[in-house]
Parts: sequence; structure tokens; C-alpha cells
Amino acid sequence: MARGVIRFLLDGEVRELVGVDPTLTVLDLLRHHLRRTGTKEGCAEGDCGACTVALAELGGEKVRIRAVNACLLFTPMLDGRALFTVESLGRPAALHPVQQAMVDHHGSQCGFCTPGFVMSLYAHQRSSGPTDQAGLKEALAGNLCRCTGYGPILAAGRTMGPDPDAAALPELAAALRAVRPTEPLELDHRGRRFLAPRTADAFAAAFAAHPDATILAGGTDVGLWVTRQHRTLPTVISLGEVSDLRAVADDGASLRIEAGARYADAAPALAALHPQFAGFLARLGAVQVRNLGTVCGNIANGSPIGDMPPALIALGATLHLRRGGERRTLPLESYFLAYGRQDRRPGEFVEAVTIPRPAPERIVRLYKLSKRFDQDISAVCAGISVALQDGRVDDARIAFSGMAATPRRAHACEAALIGRPWTEAAVRLAARSLALDYQPISDMRASAAYRLQAAQNLLVRAVLESGDAPVQVGHLEPVDG
Ligand code: FAD
Ligand code: FES
Ligand code: FES
Repeated sequence: MARGVIRFLLDGEVRELVGVDPTLTVLDLLRHHLRRTGTKEGCAEGDCGACTVALAELGGEKVRIRAVNACLLFTPMLDGRALFTVESLGRPAALHPVQQAMVDHHGSQCGFCTPGFVMSLYAHQRSSGPTDQAGLKEALAGNLCRCTGYGPILAAGRTMGPDPDAAALPELAAALRAVRPTEPLELDHRGRRFLAPRTADAFAAAFAAHPDATILAGGTDVGLWVTRQHRTLPTVISLGEVSDLRAVADDGASLRIEAGARYADAAPALAALHPQFAGFLARLGAVQVRNLGTVCGNIANGSPIGDMPPALIALGATLHLRRGGERRTLPLESYFLAYGRQDRRPGEFVEAVTIPRPAPERIVRLYKLSKRFDQDISAVCAGISVALQDGRVDDARIAFSGMAATPRRAHACEAALIGRPWTEAAVRLAARSLALDYQPISDMRASAAYRLQAAQNLLVRAVLESGDAPVQVGHLEPVDG
């Protein structure tokens, strides 16, 4: 039996919604329908953090409380979860410790950015995030203030203390269990449908039956189709409730990341697979984006500037596709056919990606170049994986995004490296072959010449960083054309 009612918790109370447009954002729900106007709209595209709210859900039997962008969240994605907005924090007798810390350190700024900063700190506190400078900077990287400084806000984070409601977490878990749905959500509103199957089989059957539907994973790309491009999505099939497609499983030889696994869930396992992923993932979007977005969504989307494909192609990842009961696998690099075109048949979806564990002696480097350090789309992104034999390159897998119409391997450059010594001089020479692999375009992120030069320099950086001497990357000489 399906259910047409969205049920969630707001400040501990069960809320039920019927007759809701399935692509109504939580931001618009809050501001226009529930009149909770503390949550602000800055950009409506996930960039500024003004709309940050905290979402609690059960991960197994444990409660996870995470900061998310309300402008990217469709209202049905609240189903079975608990929502906290800046209004949830006010107490009759006293400010919440996060608010008090903001007051004490003069961290309160304008009415647009402050609620978002408060909610990011609140979610960080509730998830027991580290309150050193690095931990707080990461927690706040998705919150922008265009006018003043971050210093007082970071100071507030350092002194906000532990979660004052930690003792009530078992109560919240019980409330979440009570609101947890058993029947799948199916909304039909003025010809727009939203289906949230609860098993992989049901999801596969639903998508095979509606091959023109939009798959919704984290919605960090799909959300913008609605808020920025004003597209109408007639049928949306959500992966968000599919309980048997969320696993991140490491069997020692490889890591399998399933379609519903969010970056926040996959990040520790990816960093354990190779330490390069830790710093690399910290620059993919910001906390709010990584709390919603999925690795498989990044792949499925097929963007030429996605961050995960070059890293995973370099590591030799395999993609698992499924249509109904049929399954097939392919090397990730073969999935990207042309701009906007992937090797995916009607009714077929990405079920998982598996990434082999690189041999410990393999040189692996993942690089992202973007105009801003945090929360920016790459101009160029590189995955470099090299095996040496007696100081010479025995195997090379090098892939870039931002260099062509799809994320793609650099076959000419790889061939130029094989058999050559892994030295700066030899790599500089081989890096010239990148000009045969790629004819990048110029756009607002970078010029074609910059992209090619930067890609060549990244390869040289990889060889320099794999040596014993510390590298002053800023002092690299350009590689000649
Ligand atoms: P969704 O938005 O749910 O879906 C994306 C596309 O894939 C849709 O076409 C959807 O139908 C399809 N899809 C999703 N899952 C499947 C599946 N299992 N099978 C078949 N099709 C599927 N990206 C980067 O690479 N680097 C960044 O630094 C970065 N920063 C961002 C910052 C902001 C503010 C925002 C809003 C986005 C950013 N992105 C970035 C883009 C986005 O976050 C990623 O591409 C993300 O991985 C998409 O995953 P998702 O689960 O949100 O996908
Ligand atoms: Fe800017 Fe949502 S309004 S991130
Ligand atoms: Fe709020 Fe700058 S955007 S003070």
C-alpha cells in the first residue's frame, strides 16, 4: 500500500502534509507555507548557506543530525525525518548556547547570513564535530558572508560547548522510529508524481516502468534544475528511502559505494582506501552539499567537470548498472560517451561503483583546481595513479575533468610515460602529450591555455610530491607547450 502523506517532525511535533507540489523546496515550504522566515534565501542554489537547516534521520538505530541546504531539498525528502530550523533553537528563558556564543563573540552579522551560520554551528555541535580551527572552517565553508569577517564566528564555534540536548537523543531516536514510514510514499499533485520506493527491487521496477522519470538521489544537481532553470519534473523517483542501496562496503580488495550513499557516508571509507581522498573530498562542495549529494549521482550526472570521475577512473573503478532484474558492469571510463550522453539505457540506473584498493606502493594523486578553495566547481580536476618498476613507469592511469566534453583518460600521455623514469625531466616531457589528449575550451572558469598548462603542471607536481624533498608548489616553472 502506498501513502500520499508526507510525515516528519518539526520541533518534536509530527507534521503531516498533503497536496504538496513534489518539487516544492523546503526553503519555500518554510518561508511561504509555514511562515518560518528565519531561514533565508540568498542564492537558492546551494552556494551561500543562508538557508541552512538541520535534518535528523536514523542511520541504523543511531540518530544523525546534519546541516543541509533547504533550497536544494524537495519537501518529500523530509518524510520520516526531523527538521530543525533557526526557530527551533530559541528557548523561553535563555538563548541556545550556539546563539549565546555568537552574541558573546560579536559573531552576529546581517539577518541574511547569520541564521545559516547559527544552523551550521548547531548541526556541527549536535554531531559532535571537532571545534578546532580546521574542524570549524570545514563546518562553515558552505556559509558565505559577503561583507565582514569569519573570525568572531569561528571564535563562537570554539566556545559553544557540547550539545546541550545530547541526553535527549534516545528520545529523538524513538520519535524518528515512530514517524518512520513502512509504506512507500507516492505523491500525485496536479499531474506531477513523486515515488519513493523502499527497496532496490521496487526502485528498479519503478524506473523500468517509468524510464522517462527523473531519478533523485541527493538532489544537489536536480534541485538546481527546479530552482535555477525552472524546469518541471513530471515524475520523480527518489533513491532516498531505498534502504538496501545505501551501503559503503570495504571487503579489503575494493570499496563498493551504492547509489544512495551520500558523500558524508562514503568519505571515511574513501579516505581509508587512499589518504588522498581526505583533502580532495573536503573541497567537493561544502558540508551541506556533501550531506545530501551522492558519489553515484556525481557519476550518473555525467558532467564534464565532476570531481569524482577522474579520481575513480584513475583508480580503475567499475560501474554497476541495473535495469529491472538485468545487471551489467563496465569500466567507469567507458560510461562517458559524449557531452551529456552516457552509456545508460532507458530504465537503467547506476546501482553502485566499486573502486579497487590501490597497491600501497602505487603513486596516487588527486588534484582539484578552482578559483575559490571551498565550495567551487573545478576548472581542472585530476586523478593520477602510477606504478613504478625499478624507478620507471610500469603502468599509468591518468584522467582529467574540465579538459574535454567528458571526464576522460589521457591515453597519449600515459603512453608517453610508460617505460620512462619517474623524474621531473621525463614527466615534463611526457606532459606535453596532454596536448594530444585534450583540446580544452575556454569558459568562465578558465581559459583553454590555462587548463592545458595547469594539467601539465599537475602531472609535474605529482612527480615532485612523490619524491622525498618538500615541494614548493608555488615555485613550479611552467611546462613548455
Ligand atoms: P542528484 O542531483 O540527485 O542527481 C544528479 C543526476 O544524476 C540527475 O540527472 C539524476 O537523475 C541522476 N542520478 C542520480 N543518481 C542516479 C543513479 N543512481 N542512477 C542513474 N541516475 C542517477 N560537484 C562536483 O563534482 N564538485 C563540486 O565541488 C561540487 N560542488 C557543488 C556545490 C554546490 C553548491 C552544488 C549545488 C553542487 C555541487 N556539485 C559539485 C554538484 C553535485 O553536488 C554533485 O554532482 C553530486 O554528486 C550530485 O549527486 P546527487 O546525489 O545530489 O545527485
Ligand atoms: Fe543559498 Fe540555499 S539559499 S544555499
Ligand atoms: Fe551577512 Fe555579510 S552577508 S553580514
